[in-house]
Amino acid sequence: MNPPAIAIDGPAASGKSTVAKLIAKELGFTFINTGAMYRAVTWYVLQQGIDPANTEAVKAILPGIPLSFGKNGAVSTVMCNGRVLAEELTLQSTNDNVSTIAAIPEVRALLVEKQREYNTAEPVVMEGRDIGTVVFPNTPYKYFVTASEEVRAARRAAQGLTDSIAERDRKDSARACAPLTMAEDAKLVDTSDMSIEQVVAHIAADIRSRMA
Ligand code: DC
Repeated sequence: MNPPAIAIDGPAASGKSTVAKLIAKELGFTFINTGAMYRAVTWYVLQQGIDPANTEAVKAILPGIPLSFGKNGAVSTVMCNGRVLAEELTLQSTNDNVSTIAAIPEVRALLVEKQREYNTAEPVVMEGRDIGTVVFPNTPYKYFVTASEEVRAARRAAQGLTDSIAERDRKDSARACAPLTMAEDAKLVDTSDMSIEQVVAHIAADIRSRMA
């Protein structure tokens, strides 16, 4: 049996990344940002001059893709040829194309395998879109973190990022393979009127009470 896995899913800019990172810190678990993994593949595909809509060309480079998925302390990192990727992951071109790349089943299969590997030796808090539905369908700890579209757009703007979150959510929800959807047994957390501290306290208390 693997160590515990906490699944935190939700739409873009729902605050799930910040929340997941803080919950991981509080519990002493490793934080895994799976969006960064899809973003890294997207950045690499664009770097190679490949059109993300050309599914066959994307699939062809996957076996030799020089990305590796590790950790810095208790936080996941993505490396390309040994260099940690950072600003590459939030480039406008990455934002604009990540949903196209994330809809390719072979990309998802590759990354889901890497995501599960993180949990073989240690407890994790993993955030994404399909963690409760596909990556860890058997975990009892599933949270679907959301907020109204206006609140989410304001949060992105406050980060100084221009990101068409509504368009990404539409594509992420409509794709055939592992769409953004709430697992039947997930707990819904609407953060529109909650502070980050309140959300973290609420979820951490729920996990603790159920682990006790
Ligand atoms: O969490 P994020 O906004 O950084 O994610 C970027 C994109 O990656 C998102 O629009 C959809 C995709 N994604 C996914 O399909 N599945 C995941 N588990 C995480 C992200």
